[in-house]
Amino acid sequence: MDIREEFLRFFESKNHDRVASAPLVPDDATLLFNNAGMVPFKSIFTGEVPAPHNPRATSCQTCIRAGGKHNDLENVGYTARHHTFFEMLGNFSFGNYFKEDAIDYAWEFITEVMKFPKEKLWVTVHESDDEAEMLWQKHVSLDRIMRLGDKDNFWQMGDTGPCGPCSEIFFDQGAESFSGPEDYMGGDGDRFLEIWNLVFMQYERSADGKLTPLPKPSIDTGMGLERVVAISEGVTSNYSSSLFMPIIKKVEALIGKEYVYASGASYRVIADHIRTVLFLLAQGVNFSNEGRGYVLRRILRRAVRHGYLLGFSEPFMHKLVDTVVAIMGKEYDYLALKSNAVKEQIELEEARFFKTIASGIELFNAELENTKEVFSGEVAFKLYDTFGFPLDLTEDMLREKDLKLDSAKFEELMSEQRTRAKAAWKGSGDDAVHGDFKELLEKFGENSFVGYESTKQKSKVLALLDESYHHAEKLSSGTNGWVFLDITPFYAQSGGQCGDSGELAGFAKVSDTKKFFGLNLSQILVEKELKVGDEVEAVVDISRGEITKHHSATHLLHAVLFDVLGDHISQAGSLVEATRLRFDFSHPKALSHAELVEIETRINYEIMRGISANTEVMSIDEAKKSGAKAQFGEKYGDEVRVVSFGDTSIEFCGGVHVDNSAVIGSFIITKESGVSAGVRRIEAVCGHAAYEHFTQQRVLIKEIEAEVKNLDVMAGISRLKSNITELKKELHDAQNSIKTDIKIEQINGVSVVVDELANGDIKEKIDELKNQNEKLCAILFQVKDDKVMMAAGVKNSDAKAGDWIKHIAPLLGGGGGGRADFAQAGGKDITKLQEAKAEALKYITGILS
Ligand code: ALA
Repeated sequence: MDIREEFLRFFESKNHDRVASAPLVPDDATLLFNNAGMVPFKSIFTGEVPAPHNPRATSCQTCIRAGGKHNDLENVGYTARHHTFFEMLGNFSFGNYFKEDAIDYAWEFITEVMKFPKEKLWVTVHESDDEAEMLWQKHVSLDRIMRLGDKDNFWQMGDTGPCGPCSEIFFDQGAESFSGPEDYMGGDGDRFLEIWNLVFMQYERSADGKLTPLPKPSIDTGMGLERVVAISEGVTSNYSSSLFMPIIKKVEALIGKEYVYASGASYRVIADHIRTVLFLLAQGVNFSNEGRGYVLRRILRRAVRHGYLLGFSEPFMHKLVDTVVAIMGKEYDYLALKSNAVKEQIELEEARFFKTIASGIELFNAELENTKEVFSGEVAFKLYDTFGFPLDLTEDMLREKDLKLDSAKFEELMSEQRTRAKAAWKGSGDDAVHGDFKELLEKFGENSFVGYESTKQKSKVLALLDESYHHAEKLSSGTNGWVFLDITPFYAQSGGQCGDSGELAGFAKVSDTKKFFGLNLSQILVEKELKVGDEVEAVVDISRGEITKHHSATHLLHAVLFDVLGDHISQAGSLVEATRLRFDFSHPKALSHAELVEIETRINYEIMRGISANTEVMSIDEAKKSGAKAQFGEKYGDEVRVVSFGDTSIEFCGGVHVDNSAVIGSFIITKESGVSAGVRRIEAVCGHAAYEHFTQQRVLIKEIEAEVKNLDVMAGISRLKSNITELKKELHDAQNSIKTDIKIEQINGVSVVVDELANGDIKEKIDELKNQNEKLCAILFQVKDDKVMMAAGVKNSDAKAGDWIKHIAPLLGGGGGGRADFAQAGGKDITKLQEAKAEALKYITGILS
């Protein structure tokens, strides 16, 4: 039975609209991940957004609980029912039906569709909820209804948001399998399994903890798919169900050890975590050192450590991706689409941690010997800082040993490190600046920027700051400082685009423009005394035209990368200047030559199409609907500026652009490189800089032509190459012609030959030597057409000709082998011949002595 489908159909038959699962990264800054089925509907519950036409909805929502209020990470692997990633089935009423229908629907689904035996079902209600208790008595007897307090029967999404009393349905898995001290209804054991939570949404909790009644009482329910699947398959652990067993089986096969439930926590941790890692990566979250990306990294590292405990010593998690796709790919088709890129990302990340895990665990174990109750904060910090062990991983390892951590010391070292890191920023130009900005802001507010429309503007000097950002009534000739104009055409550095330069005609040169707390200030070198209140003509430097070309080209590059490499690409940084651009993006491996050519060609094609640019200011919702690319983690106001080039590129952007793509001229990629694991960088030039680039290349080719004394460079180079080959051969023949005979040495009664034959057949020569010597080890080399041939023969000796040649051939860049008495091989690198001969003699001497 497909339980997801049965559930959604059941509620459709009760007039609910089926709603697709929302992304794991919520549209909600108060939450790390989507952690419940109701999250996408939060603002409908609170009344911020009106209820949809049909006030009933149903969904199967993917959720992650690995941080924040609902965090199940620590339990995963050790209980039968906790997961970091799971699917929640739910039905919702937005001010429509309330407790009675919610209870009746749940009962009908469980007993009539799922056909769970009624005698195994129990329910709980909030201790104050007489109504719910009464309504339940329609279906279950009073002795199976328990009243519990806020801890169990009051549900809230986070510290703030909609909430209310709830009622839970439990399934009794039987005393036969569960007889622990906690296995009573309401205890912490696994016998009574909570399967469905019906929340009666009545309040909204604000940041100060106050509860305000919601405009219309509503219903939010959540049933864990994994638990229901397990019960319906007759197993007592989610991990023993068809959702997880194939993954555990795959781990078993990879490591070659049998999974035993009682001691199998590590298998379960891996099976759980691979699902979370796969879903997050497939939805565009990347490994990183902060925020969601760090949670992802911690989950992967926790799984890798459990893999290490099982005996894995190299990346294995990526090998589980196909198994998960086979189980879930039908429901979530993006998994298969992304699986190849995701596998590579996982493998890279695993490999990084595998490099340090063994030494980290050694350090951990050594410290355990010295630990009585509390584990050293210094060592935990070293594990974190040097070996990449997330703190909760170390805590996890300590929990297994029933030990505590000196967290205070750890925190102290962490904060010292943060201070050090800040100090290291000093002088890099990015350190925080202090100055009279606040006063400027209070007095004038932000100044207006007119540089989108014009590059020349009559303006008034509202304020002047000296070099250390303090007020100055005037700046005299020859001094540096900052000017604050009422209206400015100078673009202040942001979104990767550099700040404008130019002049205040007759008064000062402008070298840069930046924003400080929203104030647009230009850096100036004064030529003629400048006073507050002066009227000036502000003129942007003509290099601005080149900056706009590089900025528009960056947008085209972003769009084309998406098309050519796939939609896992996300921008990780960008720099736009008058003579170059740089664009960093997430992608697991270096780009191939063919990919780079395709990208460059397509961008030039878009340029040549002459697409008009369109800039519009719109509400953030409209912008999202238009499909505009936003920068993950970037903050936007309610109104955003969207820059588009036809259908090719649509992006949120505050920068300055060309009017038509044709103005960009041409686009050349100058370099592709890696910035960090999983992040690549493309550097490129366009406009005038591209022309300069071509010109330099042309000069270079002219110089090469002159060097090779030929009009056709390639012909000249190949002539040089063949000259070199001829010369090498001549040199070699000359060296050989000096020698006449083969040299035979005796080592422990065996005739040993390591020599070179200028002419004649080396195989025949070996046979001849075999006939002439009772015991023989001979290897002969011969240079022919820029290659080295070699043959080895052995007679009445322990040495093996095949092994000998296998040892020597790689030195000459070749390979070969053969029998114990005869072997031959070829090599390409004749320059290594002397070395190979010396090694051949050393090898055979070693064997014979
Ligand atoms: N939102 C409720 C829960 O997550 C149904 O348990």
